[in-house]
Amino acid sequence: MSQPDIDSARLLRRLQCLSRIGREAGGGISRPGFSQAAIDAASYIAAEARDDGLIARTDAGGNLLISPPGPRRYARALLVGSHLDTVVNGGWLDGAYGVVAALEAVRAVCDNHLDLGVDLVAVAFANEEGARFPQAFWGSKVLAGRLGAMTVPPVDYNGGSLREALARSGGDIDALGTAAWAPQSLASYLELHIEQGPVLESSRTPIGIVSAITGRVVLAAEFTGTAAHAGTTPMDQRSDALLGAAHLAVAVSELPGRGLCRVATVGRLESSPGSANTIAGRALVTVDLRDSSEKRLAEAESAVRHRIATIAACLGLAAECRRLAHSQPARTDPALRQSISAAANDLGLSTLELPSGAGHDAQIMAAVTPVGMIFVPSIGGVSHAPDEDTSPADLIAGARVLLGAVVRAGAACGRKERRAVPST
Ligand code: GLV
Ligand code: MN
Ligand code: MN
Repeated sequence: MSQPDIDSARLLRRLQCLSRIGREAGGGISRPGFSQAAIDAASYIAAEARDDGLIARTDAGGNLLISPPGPRRYARALLVGSHLDTVVNGGWLDGAYGVVAALEAVRAVCDNHLDLGVDLVAVAFANEEGARFPQAFWGSKVLAGRLGAMTVPPVDYNGGSLREALARSGGDIDALGTAAWAPQSLASYLELHIEQGPVLESSRTPIGIVSAITGRVVLAAEFTGTAAHAGTTPMDQRSDALLGAAHLAVAVSELPGRGLCRVATVGRLESSPGSANTIAGRALVTVDLRDSSEKRLAEAESAVRHRIATIAACLGLAAECRRLAHSQPARTDPALRQSISAAANDLGLSTLELPSGAGHDAQIMAAVTPVGMIFVPSIGGVSHAPDEDTSPADLIAGARVLLGAVVRAGAACGRKERRAVPST
């Protein structure tokens, strides 16, 4: 088998081009899922893939799928990818890196006429972050058939329809079933990502092999009080919704210290009417809870719900709490970890096994197929912020390891596939 390689100049050029899509004046990137910027990013990658002679299509969930030309040859596919959407004012590599490197891997496999024994498909999942539409991991949940029933039409934080935004992105909410892959059609899923934390950089390790991915629950708590005059309403006659939100934010920050979950964050606060001289009549806060144990996550969620009720009762407010998102903790597959380790070893790169505190599409895919994840160092451990960065050498090394892992994992899956075919 010839030794395939990625085109490192093309990898970096594509990442630079993507970083100009949705870029804010201050340098951050805003490409919330289903926004025009996210659509533009997917169109750019689709055009690059077609220039490479590959087939690019969008499924009903808004995921971009890239495959070699010609019909599918095998019953199962090895999927490799990440996401193109970002948080608001985020960085240039979170998600984009894994997609561009996946495209390189498919191109290298095609250019070298490698027969992996399984089909290879690159994927850019839609709305991984849930930045505007809070349905985080939308695309991977659709593809894995894990979306669950939608009892009310999904909307964004401002009530905008996901149906329409998805249609603008090339998807179709009425046809989501067509985008779900049967588990038996999947061989495995590999994702390359920046670490988004400080561990690899501080240990001077170029390649991280992810052992497990954190579980996560996102809640929206809404307090309703009475909007009233800030100068004339006596302090003991107020129903201040923003005060409820403030008490909840403090209580959430105390959860990890009480041993209830690993980390807990209030990342979004909206109050209305939003006037300096009016007591807030309504306030909404999001609560992001993370832990590697589903049981501890459930306990933390019920502690938050209990606290919301207590705060509302004390302050004379009405309160509601909704779950916006839930993703289970997941473990990566030992054989894929071994493939990643061998690929790094072949390139003379040291590795470290570490858990991921960030969420990834891989954890959704883990419900239906074995998953593996590769990390590269994040400078200063920064992510979800404009300063997010990784050195070019580390970006190139990670993409090479991804390609090596794809070839190894594909060959291993292909061997199994051939064994499963009865000889005549
Ligand atoms: C996804 O980026 C997350 O919030 O971890
Ligand atoms: Mn992210
Ligand atoms: Mn990401």
